[in-house]
Order: sequence, then structure tokens, then C-alpha cells
Amino acid sequence: MRKKIEFRSTLEVYLPKDWSEEDRNLIELAQKISKNAHAPYSDFLVGAAVLLDNGKVFAANNQENVSFPVGICAERAALSYAMANFPDSRPKKIAIFARRRHEDRIASVTPCGLCRQTINEYEVKFKSPIEVMMLSPEGHLLVANGIEQLLPFRFNDLNS
Ligand code: THU
Repeated sequence: MRKKIEFRSTLEVYLPKDWSEEDRNLIELAQKISKNAHAPYSDFLVGAAVLLDNGKVFAANNQENVSFPVGICAERAALSYAMANFPDSRPKKIAIFARRRHEDRIASVTPCGLCRQTINEYEVKFKSPIEVMMLSPEGHLLVANGIEQLLPFRFNDLNS
């Protein structure tokens, strides 16, 4: 081996008392919409809320299907909904909330690989990082400042 290429990943951690009102609203919205998830197969209820730079917020949840791969995650549903309505407005942040149907405690999730690649798509489109906001099992806010922190060495068209 001649050399290594290493990547250091960082998540910022915020206690609830330090959350901005904007972030608190987004998390609350993600939590609220998670209750409407169509998740009869996994009983895993996920909500996502996207804030655009025009101030609009779009929230959605996971929608499962009896043919399992057909289901869509909350993050991609919310981003698709937002981008379909405001294709020229940059997504600034996405908050994610998850819980198992019969449990009260937060399920700590980070976006799946497909959702990470989708977030990357809109970062590339708008040439700007998107904040990904997740909750830790203790209920602390974890913030990735851009998808690079969650998806290093991701696929992009290197010629564009
Ligand atoms: N899911 C999401 O909605 N977002 C994620 O980031 C991870 C997984 C959904 C997909 C499926 O409906 C359920 O959670 C269990 O995997």
C-alpha cells in the first residue's frame, strides 16, 4: 500500500435547550407526520420535514407496500414533494424522526443509503450543503452539515 485516503466525519450534537425555534419546529413536524406513516409491514414509523430557502416546509412519511421494495422512505417522499412544488428553491435542512409503533422512545435513525444519495442530488443541483438533522437515542439533536458527513466517496458525475 502506497498511501491511504481517509475521511473524517463529524456530527454536531445539540441538547434540546439549545435548539433554535426553526429546528424545534422541523423536528416536531417530522414527529407529527410520522404518526401517519403507512408502515403495516415494519411498524417503523418515520417522518421527515424539509425546509426550503423560501421558508416553505414539506413533511412526509414512509409509505410501505406489500411488495416490499416498492415502499418509499420518509426522507425521499418529503424531498420529492418539496422539489416537485418548488424546483427552484434550495432545501436548507431535513429533520428525521422515527419510532416503533408500540414504543414511546425515539428510534435513532440516520437516512438510508438511497436517501443519502437523494440528498446528494439536491446538494449538487443547488451547489449547497443540506443540513441533515437526526435524533440520538437520548433525544439530542445530531446535525450533519452536508451529506458528505454521511456519504463520503459518494457517486457523482465527476465530469460535470
Ligand atoms: N425508513 C425510512 O423512512 N427512512 C429511513 O431513513 C430508514 C428507513 C423506512 C423504510 C421502511 O418503511 C421502514 O422505515 C423500515 O425500514
